[in-house]
Amino acid sequence: MKTIIAPSILSADFTKMGEEVRRMENSGADWIHCDVMDGLFVPNITFGPKMIKDIRKVTSLPLDVHLMITEPIRYVPQFTDAGADYLTIQVESTDRAAETLELIKKRGCKCGAVISPDTPVSALMELLPICDIALVMSVHPGFGGQKFIENALNKLKELQAMRDIISPNCIIEVDGGINEQNVGDAVKAGAEAIVAGSAIFGSPDPKATILRMRG
Ligand code: DX5
Ligand code: ZN
Repeated sequence: MKTIIAPSILSADFTKMGEEVRRMENSGADWIHCDVMDGLFVPNITFGPKMIKDIRKVTSLPLDVHLMITEPIRYVPQFTDAGADYLTIQVESTDRAAETLELIKKRGCKCGAVISPDTPVSALMELLPICDIALVMSVHPGFGGQKFIENALNKLKELQAMRDIISPNCIIEVDGGINEQNVGDAVKAGAEAIVAGSAIFGSPDPKATILRMRG
């Protein structure tokens, strides 16, 4: 399978979001990764469903919406209506993860569970059969431009082994601190979808960077 490259618009210039998304599409991006933060689950605030709705109008690429918000079930309808293609939730953000994932599916969207660096892969065990995506955070969620946490590679390998047995169609994604230097290690460890913010938006030639990252 071809590696999926998903630039994170957290590193975009928010005053030019439409142009930035189109620039990524023209550079060969596969998905657009949209980081939603509420200032409660994480110490940062980004944007809500209106941004997803507006981005939906300027690109035909799948929108990979990563919710870093407390009790995400409250906002599932708004994000599925806004045009998310993939909607992922942090397992630490709720006690109702399975119910939330089921609701996302019921609303016609692909769903996924995300684990932060301190959360073990075993936290995904029961959710994996429902998930279209399982995402391993390789930085603590909240900010772009952080350093890749190497232990994510062990977690990716563990997740891949579990996925192959209990949910073979689930896509393994990695997010945080990925660049041209370490992307190969992440792919080797099992990552099939790669989120990268600063490495792609900060590149003088995003097209070349995406090509090289895809390998
Ligand atoms: C972090 C976000 C990431 C972030 C990645 O909380 O979930 O998607 O934008 O940015 P880089 O690639 O710069 O680490
Ligand atoms: Zn993200």
